[in-house]
Amino acid sequence: MSRMLKCLSMICLAAGFALLAPAPARGLDNGAARTPPMGWNSWNKFACKGISEAVIRASADAIASNGMKDAGYQYVNMDDCWQVSRDSSGNIVADPEKFPSGIKALADYVHSKGLKLGIYTDAGTKTCAGRPGSMGHEYQDAQQYANWGIDYVKEDWCSTLPGQSSEASYTLMRDALAATGRPIVFSICEWGSTKPWLWAGPVGNLWRSTGDIQDCWDCKKSWGGNGLLQILDQMDPLYSYAGPGHWNDPDMLEVGNGGMTTDEYRVHFSLWALFSAPLLAGNDLQHMTPEVRDILLNKDVIAIDQDPMGIQGHRVHKAGDLEVWSKQLGDGGRAVALVNRSATPATISADWRDLGYPPSLPAAVRDLWAHKDLAQHTGSFSAEVPSHGVVMVRIKP
Ligand code: GLA
Repeated sequence: MSRMLKCLSMICLAAGFALLAPAPARGLDNGAARTPPMGWNSWNKFACKGISEAVIRASADAIASNGMKDAGYQYVNMDDCWQVSRDSSGNIVADPEKFPSGIKALADYVHSKGLKLGIYTDAGTKTCAGRPGSMGHEYQDAQQYANWGIDYVKEDWCSTLPGQSSEASYTLMRDALAATGRPIVFSICEWGSTKPWLWAGPVGNLWRSTGDIQDCWDCKKSWGGNGLLQILDQMDPLYSYAGPGHWNDPDMLEVGNGGMTTDEYRVHFSLWALFSAPLLAGNDLQHMTPEVRDILLNKDVIAIDQDPMGIQGHRVHKAGDLEVWSKQLGDGGRAVALVNRSATPATISADWRDLGYPPSLPAAVRDLWAHKDLAQHTGSFSAEVPSHGVVMVRIKP
């Protein structure tokens, strides 16, 4: 073989190996949100009318003092309506009545509590509440956020142009944020409308995979309401797309907002943890019942959400309204949620084979809502589950 031919065959061989080698993990490489972000967002409770500097400060105070910060909650996120206009240079202007001290002072305050501040914008001309969007101002806005000390940006998808590419628009903001040199979590919010799980891995740290959450157990409405059950079903097939730094986002929590029972809110929180979803409380943190606090502060369940392996769980068994959901954990264990959608209490069983374990394998079982280690089990685990309720356990062979 001539030297040239030998050379060519070596190149072909190398190229062949490169093709065979596993693809690098897909995911935005900005170092942020290696585990799902935890914090609070103003929208679900305060919406446009109720947002203010006072509410944001009070929420930061609450997180810092009520145990949430110690449990891992750190982002205090302002949603829509903090902004009113742009000045003659095109700089975005905060509402001077609702945010009289300005955003820089607010960020300093939130940082002084050991927490981080998030902000909201939109990839179109206007936000969903009609405030100025970032279209055409991406670099200017990103730099402004960084100057203020912002740590988290959510970008919505209202008032976009017909045919506007979501991937290109969000990539533009990703690059604008990266150019500031400040580590900023980037949250894509196009409601799953352009299947972001297929393209957003290298673009955002999280992407909304579903429409706006409604504070109800089952709200199948003519306009496609997203109650808890609807979101569970939409999240189930998306599990392979999530991983460290890039998460499916089934929307902010409704726990404590009053539309569901305590049992239903436990299902909500358990399943968000099983999904490796962002845990962004969406209630009034200054006025919480002990039941709501106990849900948001359940460290056993939070540990499932924050498992460093970052695998999203999914449904492994369904018999009518009785379901078994499982998430693989970094220690070889499983988080298992037995979910009862029916109107009466029922016994639900998790079979080891559905969890990917041989039936003969003995395993330790911990009940994550009772905070109790149970007896060792082999082959299966069964429990009586309340109507519209959950039993969640951690299984460790
Ligand atoms: C959209 C988003 C919500 C919220 C509102 C604000 O509906 O999906 O999460 O940010 O806009 O107007």
